[in-house]
Amino acid sequence: MTSRIAVLPGDGIGPEIVEQAVRVLRAPALNLDLELTEAPVGGAAYVAKGHPLPEDTLALAKQSDAILFGAVGDWKFDKLERALRPEQAVLGLRKALGLFANLRPAILYPELANASSLKPEVVAGLDILIVRELTGDIYFGQPRGVRTLEDGPYAGERQGYDTMHYAESEIRRIAHVAFQAAAKRQGRLCSVDKANVLETSQFWRDIMIDVAREYPKVELSHMYVDNAAMQLVREPKAFDVVVTGNLFGDILSDEAAMLTGSIGMLPSASLNASRQGLYEPSHGSAPDIAGQNIANPLATILSAAMMLRYSLDAAPAADRIEAAVQAVLARGLRTADIFEAGTTRVSTSEMGDAVLKALN
Ligand code: NAI
Ligand code: MG
Repeated sequence: MTSRIAVLPGDGIGPEIVEQAVRVLRAPALNLDLELTEAPVGGAAYVAKGHPLPEDTLALAKQSDAILFGAVGDWKFDKLERALRPEQAVLGLRKALGLFANLRPAILYPELANASSLKPEVVAGLDILIVRELTGDIYFGQPRGVRTLEDGPYAGERQGYDTMHYAESEIRRIAHVAFQAAAKRQGRLCSVDKANVLETSQFWRDIMIDVAREYPKVELSHMYVDNAAMQLVREPKAFDVVVTGNLFGDILSDEAAMLTGSIGMLPSASLNASRQGLYEPSHGSAPDIAGQNIANPLATILSAAMMLRYSLDAAPAADRIEAAVQAVLARGLRTADIFEAGTTRVSTSEMGDAVLKALN
């Protein structure tokens, strides 16, 4: 059956890196049955149609099995009102498609161990997966705002406030995504919370323990978020899959990404309940290097591999793409961002060429 893929390159380096991922998806060696349809998004869509997420693009995304997204955002759009900023396209797609599960692998290929600020022996071969809840938590909780206090020690002062909450079904659905991911990996899931202080966290922990009964082969552990932040830099390889809420996940996923030192290498996925997903590199649109054919396309190529694995049930093809990327690194080919002495510097399109060659 043909899978329908919406290809949304965006702006900045988006078009250059997405072009390489599309070449990989079309590689005859993979023999995939895909219908790829491109549409503008972000700044590119604002320029062409006056809106960062035009109706046509949204409709295409909704009727696709998966979305391959490049990046959006450029300084030249910074002065636009918030609703017209490129970044609104990502938020709009997340909301319209109900993408509640954000999967962010932090993988450090042995060949790139020097890129990390941690000692190579601590991080070489790192392969962890952070599963972050994306649509709930204090980011969206009501009430929120600024109010003037009537009584108490701060009476007469203004106070800023937000509300943290998670509904049981919101916790259950992210738990299932995380347990299923762990079952396909080393079978270890660490749930991160702040249950010693927060009621929301204690509830989260109780639900995790309940869902765990459906996954007897996965070993569930719990960790407070402050300790998790420390353990991620002390002994990151001790983790397999980490599941956490929106706020803690925002911070921990960026921390885990930086352990690898190679932002140009990290893919991501955002999934909904029907496994429809948006796949994009973890980095932004890098306007400082856009249009120069020097950006690293591997994060986007690896995002395409995640798409095959999580939305299209084509794990063998995903494995082959990941192996091809590994082979290219082993041959010493590097884009500028991961270049070091003794390796061979290549452009964006040459990196794409090399991955295609390695696939054959
Ligand atoms: P960024 O990730 O775009 O760039 C940070 C640094 O990493 C820059 O020096 C850039 O040149 C470099 N870099 C990023 N990706 C690279 C790649 N593939 N190859 C080589 N070098 C790479 O983050 P920044 O500068 O904070 O944001 C730039 C724009 O991207 C902003 O407008 C921001 O809002 C937007 N953005 C968009 C995201 C998205 O589309 N989902 C996510 C994050 C930021
Ligand atoms: Mg962040």
